[in-house]
Amino acid sequence: MVETDVLCLQSESVQHMKKEKILVIGASGQIGVELTLALRKMYGGSQVIASDLREENELLKGTGPYVSLDVMNKEMLHVQILRQNITQVYLLAAMLSATGEKNPPLAWHLNMQSLLNVLDIAKEEKLSKVYWPSSIAVFGPTSPKVDCPQHTIIEPTTVYGISKYAGEFWCNYFFQRYGVDVRSLRYPGLISYKSAPGGGTTDYAIDIFLGAKEKKQYACYLKEDTKLPMMYMPDAIRATIELMEAPAEKIKVRTSYNLSAMSFSPSDITSEIQKHIPGFKSTYSPDSRQSIAESWPQSIDDHEARAHWGWNHQFDLEKMTIDMLANLNAL
Ligand code: NAD
Ligand code: SER
Repeated sequence: MVETDVLCLQSESVQHMKKEKILVIGASGQIGVELTLALRKMYGGSQVIASDLREENELLKGTGPYVSLDVMNKEMLHVQILRQNITQVYLLAAMLSATGEKNPPLAWHLNMQSLLNVLDIAKEEKLSKVYWPSSIAVFGPTSPKVDCPQHTIIEPTTVYGISKYAGEFWCNYFFQRYGVDVRSLRYPGLISYKSAPGGGTTDYAIDIFLGAKEKKQYACYLKEDTKLPMMYMPDAIRATIELMEAPAEKIKVRTSYNLSAMSFSPSDITSEIQKHIPGFKSTYSPDSRQSIAESWPQSIDDHEARAHWGWNHQFDLEKMTIDMLANLNAL
C-alpha cells in the first residue's frame, strides 16, 4: 500500500471515530476512570460522556463532560442517550464479588437490571456498540483450576458470578436475536494505582502495594498460597479498546472472552515486592473472601482472544511490580 493510501485510510478512520459519541456508565470507578481517560484520548474529550451515581472522580475533572446518572433509572438513561446523541455505551456499574455477598438481592438487581436496561435501549436506538465486562468469577469449584478454558463446566457459587454468567447469556441473546453488537471480556483481578478498587476479592493485590509503601507490612485476608489470575490495568484498558475496535467478524465469542496475563499468590507478590522493599512482610488471616477465591480458577486459558482479535498481554508480575512501585512513589 502506498503512503497516500495509508494516510487516506487513517483519515477515514479518524472521521469515523469522531462520529462516535460514547457514554461510560460507572466512570468514577476503578476501571471507569482509566477507561474514560483512554477513550477521551482516542475520540476527543467532548465525544466521551462520563457518568456515575457518585461524584466525578478528581482525575476526570476538566477532561470532558460528566453527568450524574443512575443506570437503574431506565427512563433517565434513555433520555441521556437521546439527548447526547450517544452511539456507544460502556457499562461498568456493578457490585463486585465481596460486596455482593453482603447483599445478594441488591447485587443481583444492580448487575442484571443495569445490563438489561442498556441492552434494551441499544436495541431500540440501534446503538453501534455496547461494552459490558464479565469476570473470572463466572467459574466455580467444578471448573478446571489450571488454564481454565473458554468453554468448560461453569457453576459459579457467588451471586456476583451468577449475575455475570447470566449477563453473558443476555449479551449473546441480544446479539443473536436483535443484532446488538455487544462485546465482553472476563477480566481477571485488576491491579491499578489511579483509582481505588470497588470491593472485589482480588483487591488485596492493590492494598499490598500501599501497605508495602506506607508501613513495610501488610495483613492479607487470603491464605499465602491462594493463586489467582490477575492483570495490570494498562493491559486491561488496551484489551478493552482492542476488542471494541476489532472488526465485528473477528468477534466470534458473543458471551464473553477469557482474558489472561499473569497468575500469582499473596506469597508470590510479597516476594516480588521484597526485591524492591527489603524488610517488607505480609501476614495472613483469611476471612470470608478466602472461600470466594478458592472457588475460582488459578489460571486462565485465553487462546481464543489471542487467535480471534490478536490479544497479547504486556505486563507480567515482575514488570507490573516495578511499574506500580514507581507510580506509587511518584504520587
Ligand atoms: P467499581 O466498583 O470500582 O466501579 C463501579 C462504578 O459504578 C462505581 O463508581 C459506582 O459508583 C458506579 N455505580 C454503581 N451503581 C451505579 C448505578 N446504579 N448507576 C450508575 N453508576 C453506578 O468497579 P470496577 O472495578 O471499576 O468494575 C467495573 C466493571 O468491571 C464491573 O462490571 C466489574 O464487575 C467488572 N470487573 C472488574 C474487575 C476488577 O478487578 N476491578 C474484575 C472483573 C470484572
Ligand atoms: N476483581 C473482581 C472481584 O474480585 C473479579 O471480578 O470481584
